[in-house]
Amino acid sequence: MTQLKNDTFLRALMREPVDYTPVWMMRQAGRYLPEYRATRAKAGSFMDLCRSPELACEVTLQPLDRFPLDAAILFSDILTVPDAMGLGLYFAEGEGPNFERPVRTEADVDRLPIPDPEGELKYVMDAVSVIRRELDGRVPLIGFSGSPWTLATYMVEGGSAKNFSHTKAMMFDRPDLLHRLLTKVADSVTSYLNAQIARGAQAAMIFDTWGGALAPAHYREFSLAYMKRVMDGLTREAEGRRVPVILFTKNGGQWLADMADTGCDALGVDWTTDLADARRMVGDRVALQGNLDPCTLYASPERIRDEVARVLESYGKGHGHVFNLGHGITPDVNPENAGAMIEAVHELSRPYHA
Ligand code: CP3
Repeated sequence: MTQLKNDTFLRALMREPVDYTPVWMMRQAGRYLPEYRATRAKAGSFMDLCRSPELACEVTLQPLDRFPLDAAILFSDILTVPDAMGLGLYFAEGEGPNFERPVRTEADVDRLPIPDPEGELKYVMDAVSVIRRELDGRVPLIGFSGSPWTLATYMVEGGSAKNFSHTKAMMFDRPDLLHRLLTKVADSVTSYLNAQIARGAQAAMIFDTWGGALAPAHYREFSLAYMKRVMDGLTREAEGRRVPVILFTKNGGQWLADMADTGCDALGVDWTTDLADARRMVGDRVALQGNLDPCTLYASPERIRDEVARVLESYGKGHGHVFNLGHGITPDVNPENAGAMIEAVHELSRPYHA
């Protein structure tokens, strides 16, 4: 394997010394880039793009060719796993994700297989291999998965949902059934992430997009416990190096200390929590990743620079910070503003590491 030319991101995740704060953006390969829209048009549907390792590689590299980002993230989606469990994923234009066969009954749960990542999900693993080859050590590659709870909400609702009515009804009336579902999803996620790591992912991130919709006791029982189950089963070393794991619960600021207890290396933080408070909650146990409000990128480059300075200041001196947005970049952002953010991070962060 080629030597990494820029391992700043991995070192920051391990809270090791770095010269500047590394930066990447959630959804950095996506619709705000005209070159993404062109490749997507060539591919056909979003899932056709995910299913082609060559095209998935092409869009993974697009933001890196434009900006001096410190990490690449596999181009795919969290819903590939439930799709491989037989639910029939489709994206209706302008509607977001849907499943043909949602999971509602005991029989639905019992029928679910644990997919073989090198079987139905081989297209994802092939994308990891192609991307690693084409990256040629420029920056590390992040693999990812949805959290068991977040995936279960899509599986039970049959798509995106406002109130999670079916999933929460199951949680209150049939907690045993939801636990059975979450166990299967957690085991699927574990083998999916381990396969990505075996194919060359150098860090892994778990997206718990909807954990923050739960009451604290329910968060611990139905989301956190299953992220812990995944964590306990993950391969943590590959190619002679630690494979750091990042947990991200959107709207989970109040649970950062509990999340750090899972044994992860870093926590993603959204913009509703101050990084100084987050740091007090977790001490020096984990690195922090975040947390510029993604809407900042609608402002002028000068204001973006001020806000970047504010986020760097709130983390403060010392290592263990990976700069990111607090959630995914939105499709109507001007790419030049993303460039202004990245440049400001690299420039303004140096004094914090001197
Ligand atoms: O970050 C990256 O650049 C890597 C790729 C990535 C995508 N989705 C590509 C994508 C990642 C890491 C995801 C994760 C994902 N997918 C999450 C968790 C992260 C989060 O945002 O909290 C969730 C909840 C999903 C499910 C999903 N996929 C939804 C709700 C949608 C529709 C969103 C929309 O705005 O239409 C998708 C589609 C999707 N996934 C797109 C991209 C670039 C847009 C598809 C298109 O080209 O039309």
